[in-house]
Amino acid sequence: MFVFNDIKNLQQHLLTFNNDKSIGFVPTMGALHQGHLSLIKKAQEKSDIVVVSIFVNPTQFDKPEDLVKYPRTLENDLKLLESVNCNVVFAPTAKEIYGDKITSKSFTFDGLEHQMEGKFRDGHFDGVGTIVKRLFEIVKPTNAYFGEKDFQQLQIIKKMVENHSIPINIVGCEIFREEDGLAMSSRNTRLTDEHRLAAPFIYKTIKKARKKFKKNAPEKVISWVKKKFKKHPLLKLEYFEIADEKTLKTIKKKDDDKRYRAFIAVFAGEIRLIDNIKL
Ligand code: PAF
Repeated sequence: MFVFNDIKNLQQHLLTFNNDKSIGFVPTMGALHQGHLSLIKKAQEKSDIVVVSIFVNPTQFDKPEDLVKYPRTLENDLKLLESVNCNVVFAPTAKEIYGDKITSKSFTFDGLEHQMEGKFRDGHFDGVGTIVKRLFEIVKPTNAYFGEKDFQQLQIIKKMVENHSIPINIVGCEIFREEDGLAMSSRNTRLTDEHRLAAPFIYKTIKKARKKFKKNAPEKVISWVKKKFKKHPLLKLEYFEIADEKTLKTIKKKDDDKRYRAFIAVFAGEIRLIDNIKL
């Protein structure tokens, strides 16, 4: 496994493949877990070379303390990546990526950025767009893999490659869950024992909401979920929305030929968890 911290040496290495090998790219912020490994496995099925980036991107954090507390486990990440036969790791510094000015570019994603996470995390998707576009320009992959846990991010990245005519195939991968149903996330390691025990309630509730959606209007399902969380002593609901999978706009009523998803954000203490489910 080759590990690079700088762009020049990474690109020189990738050039040796002479454009005749396909590159599968898995961008991450490290603190790797089984969910990331499932993306890498998917990438290995379709690509000759798999590149994983590890970079805690400062511009996508809306709260400075969240950036400071984000788990950083590089040594362990490298061991894990070696064990799954990853070919290349790119772990740059912020200076290597941004130079002296750590700022986001401004993007429009045809309105996708104003829904859900966009309402609660100021500047988040400009930060994601900035880093993902930059990493795409550096690595120039054939395929790039993103988890559906961040479904809005996945749709936004698909929109970005479309709007900027970037020739990369974006592959969405199913949410990887703990045995008790909690969606895997690097942030889960920061949960207290008490909140970790409570957190599977999120997936349990959205699964029940999916059942209710079959026979009830969206509004009814939403107020049912809100009630459930109001009664919960440890978890605080930030939002629960039912939206069109493509536009991510919330819906008032169902249309048979559209596809919908329910999206949720919850605070477990100071840790913010998100999840979603196909309806
Ligand atoms: O999903 C993530 O881990 C990050 O948002 C990403 C795509 C690696 C960009 O920093």
